[in-house]
Amino acid sequence: MTDNSAHTQTLLDMSDLLKPNAVRVAATLGIADLVAEGGGTAATLAERAGAHPEVFAKLLRYLVELGLFTVDADGVHALTDLSRPLLRSNEPSLAQYLSMEGLFGRVSLGLVGLLHTVRTGEASHAAVFGRDYWDEINTDPVYVRALEAEGPTEAGWDADAVIRAYDWSTVRSVADVGGNNGTLLIELLRAHPHLRGTVIDLPNVAGIAARRIEEAGLADRGTAVAASFFEELPKGHDVYLLSGILADWSDEKSVAILRRVAEAAGPDGRVLLAEINLPEMGTGLAAADTALRVAATVPVPARTVEAVRDLADRAGLTPTWQGPVTPVRSVVEFSQAGVELSQAGVELSPAVALDRVPEVAGA
Ligand SMILES: C[S@@+](CC[C@H](N)C(=O)[O-])C[C@H]1O[C@@H](n2cnc3c(N)ncnc32)[C@H](O)[C@@H]1O
Repeated sequence: MTDNSAHTQTLLDMSDLLKPNAVRVAATLGIADLVAEGGGTAATLAERAGAHPEVFAKLLRYLVELGLFTVDADGVHALTDLSRPLLRSNEPSLAQYLSMEGLFGRVSLGLVGLLHTVRTGEASHAAVFGRDYWDEINTDPVYVRALEAEGPTEAGWDADAVIRAYDWSTVRSVADVGGNNGTLLIELLRAHPHLRGTVIDLPNVAGIAARRIEEAGLADRGTAVAASFFEELPKGHDVYLLSGILADWSDEKSVAILRRVAEAAGPDGRVLLAEINLPEMGTGLAAADTALRVAATVPVPARTVEAVRDLADRAGLTPTWQGPVTPVRSVVEFSQAGVELSQAGVELSPAVALDRVPEVAGA
């Protein structure tokens, strides 16, 4: 006979929301560090955390019951083995990863909107927080620290397909649209010493990109400006690069972005789409977890080269060169006029170029 009460308890434990929130609040407030820096009673810890004394005491009591801290007869708290990984000095920082004011933490909190995703197929963040993820973390000053701490420091997702497979020798100036904290542009400028570049992104990351470009000693060739790709973009660059941008947007929004980019590029400019493609892979719980998590987070994680070309076509862009297609990325160059361009010393007509490239696996 089925033990319903045991299963009921299992389901209640699985669906509890208090535990994850309490642990994340502890990470956000840095309670492990406050305790490590001299313990203290709930009252003194609350003051140092800048928290409401009575509710903070209730949180601490719960965390003690969960085994994160101990408390002695004088009400003084101490760390346990369970809370030590939450110390901010750990590298990489679990506390930063779990922080409700962190980049990854914000993604996780969006999962509260899973019902919206399941009903509509749309990512959940805007449904929960009233604005999309990038808009939120790029406008609110509270996320500047998180963008500094958690932003990428190396270009990933087969970035070599952008940095080395494309012929940058004829390009004087590139706009990295949605270039985030400048990581990809910095690597591009280092790899191609003749190249000049500008990151175009929303205010918080654009400010960080400008500083990082300067710190990299590239201020003479690189810069960053704050602008939205849903509005008019700075003109005059030879190439407008979009790396990993469209996955975050529906087809309609993607076409709107591409129209803005095409408008800025003008008839003589080129648009280089280095799009991410995340086809579902693997079996088992971890793969199922990733598939659902990605669906709630990234609106269109998998677009084939065909789909990317269709979007560009709707924005009046014609493919002029097809670059590598790796398991996670495709690189295609477009222009308004569809003029033939050479690549790697080979003159490729669009038809030939596109024919020569295998489709993304599983597409
Ligand atoms: C997935 S990240 C891609 C970052 C980078 N291009 C790369 O390849 O790693 C998307 C980027 O788009 C930017 N973004 C989002 N909305 C934007 C907007 N309306 N205008 C300009 N940039 C935006 C985000 O700030 C973020 O840096």
